[in-house]
Amino acid sequence: MTDATPSADGQTLTVRDDRTGKDYVLPIVDGTIRASDLGKIRVNDDEPGIASYDPGFTNTASTRSAVTFIDGEKGILEYRGYPIEQLAEKSNFLEVAYLLIHGDLPSKEQYDAWVHEITFHTFVHENIKSLMQGFRYDAHPMGMLLSAVGGLSTFYPEARNIQDPEVRHLQIVRMIAKMPTLGAWSFRHAQGKPYVYPDNDLSYAENFLAMLFKMSEPKYEADPRLAKALEVLFILHADHEQNASTNAVRSVGSTQVDPYSAVSAGIAALYGPLHGGANEAVLRMLKRIKTKDNVPAFIEGVKAGNERLMGFGHRVYKNYDPRATIIKKACDDVFEVTGVNPYLEVAQELEKIALEDEYFVKRKLYPNVDFYSGLIYEALQFPPEMFTVMFAIPRTAGWLAQWVELVDDKEQKIARPKQIYTGERGLTFPSSTERWG
Ligand code: CMC
Repeated sequence: MTDATPSADGQTLTVRDDRTGKDYVLPIVDGTIRASDLGKIRVNDDEPGIASYDPGFTNTASTRSAVTFIDGEKGILEYRGYPIEQLAEKSNFLEVAYLLIHGDLPSKEQYDAWVHEITFHTFVHENIKSLMQGFRYDAHPMGMLLSAVGGLSTFYPEARNIQDPEVRHLQIVRMIAKMPTLGAWSFRHAQGKPYVYPDNDLSYAENFLAMLFKMSEPKYEADPRLAKALEVLFILHADHEQNASTNAVRSVGSTQVDPYSAVSAGIAALYGPLHGGANEAVLRMLKRIKTKDNVPAFIEGVKAGNERLMGFGHRVYKNYDPRATIIKKACDDVFEVTGVNPYLEVAQELEKIALEDEYFVKRKLYPNVDFYSGLIYEALQFPPEMFTVMFAIPRTAGWLAQWVELVDDKEQKIARPKQIYTGERGLTFPSSTERWG
C-alpha cells in the first residue's frame, strides 16, 4: 500500500495497478477522488501517471461551489439553499441576483442600495451604441450582445484589477445593469427602430420591456402581469451550476482576465443550440409540426433517430426539470394578456405523447426549461433569435456569482485540461521537391 492520506472522515478508495501489482489508497472527499492522486499511479518514475479521460466532463467536478445546488434525480434546484419554487413565488430578479452574488439575502438597506446601484448604471457609453449600430441590419442579436459585452472591457480598463473587491463589485453592478440595455438594443437593431435609452424610474423588468417596445409614447407602461412573468423567467434562468456557459466563464476567468471578457465567453457558449439556443430550436420545431395531428408522426421520426425532440432531456435532470413546471404556470399568466399562442396545443400534445411513450420514459426524457419558454417569448412578440438573449440577461448574475467564487478560490488554477495525443511523432519535414516532385 502507498500514498494513504485518508480524508477527515477516513473514507478511501483502494486501487490496484495490475501492471505493477501495487495498491494505492486514495482519499475520498465529498464523493470524489483527486485527479492529481491518480497521477501518482505510474509504472516508472519518469513516465506520466494515470489520468482520467472525460470528454464533456460528464463525471468530473471542476470546482467546489456554494452557489447552486441541483439534485437531478429528485428535480431539486436551489440558489444558495433556497428552493427555486420559493424564489420564483416570493422574490424578484434583483434580489435573487444579490443572493447569488453575495451568498445571502439582503437586509432592507442592502436591498435598497443594490437596486439603486443597478438602476443607475443602466446607461452605456455612446460609443458602445455606435459599435452596435455598426452591425449589419440582419445581425444575430446574440452575436451583437457578446461583442458589446466584450467591448465593455475596453471602456473600463480598471476591471482587470480583479483582486480588488471594490473594483469587482462595480463591474458586477455595471454588467447586471447594462445587459437589458444591450439586449434590447440588439432587438431594436434588427427591426431598424431607434434604440431606446433606459428609464431609471422603472423596475428592472419594466425598464427592459420599455427599451424593447417603446415608440412615441412619453412613458412606456408595461402590463404588470407581463413584467411579473419576465421577473419569474429571469429568476429561473439566473444560475444553473456548472453548465457549459458557466464552465466557459470559469475557464476563461481562470486566466485572470477581466470579467467582461469572461462573461462574453459565457454568452458565446450559451449561443449554441444544445445550450441556450434550444428554446429557439423548440419554436422552429413547433412551427414545423404545425398542428396537433402531425405530432404522432413527428414522435415516430424522433424515435427512429431522425432528429431530437428539442426542449426535452437534460444532462442533470432525470425526473423532471423544476423550472419547466414553473414556466408552464407563467405561460398561463402571459397568455391571459397576449392571447394563447397557437403552438401551445402542439407543445401540450407533444408533452402528453412523449411522457407516455416508452422511448422517452426509458431514457428519462422530460420537458426542460426551454420547452415552454419559447412560447412565452413568442407571445411577447420576440423573434426566435432573441430567445437566447432573454436567457443571457439573467444568467449574467449567475456567471458573475460563479466568477467571484472562482477568483476567491485559492485552489483554482488556470484551466488547462490534459489530452490523449493520437497524432504522428518526430516526422522529418520533407523538401518541396520531395513533397511535390
Ligand atoms: N430527443 C430524443 N432523444 C433524446 C433527446 C431528445 N431531446 N435527448 C436525449 N435523447 C436520447 C439520446 O438519443 C440517447 O439515446 P440512446 O441512449 O438510445 O443513444 C439518450 O437519450 C441519452 O442522450 P444523451 O445525448 O447521451 O444525453 P446528454 O446528457 O448528453 O444530452 C441534452 C443532454 C440536453 C444535450 C439532450 O437531451 C438534448 O440534445 N436535448 C435537446 C436539446 C435541448 O433541449 N437542450 C436544452 C437543455 S436545458 C437548457 C440548457 O442547458 O441550456
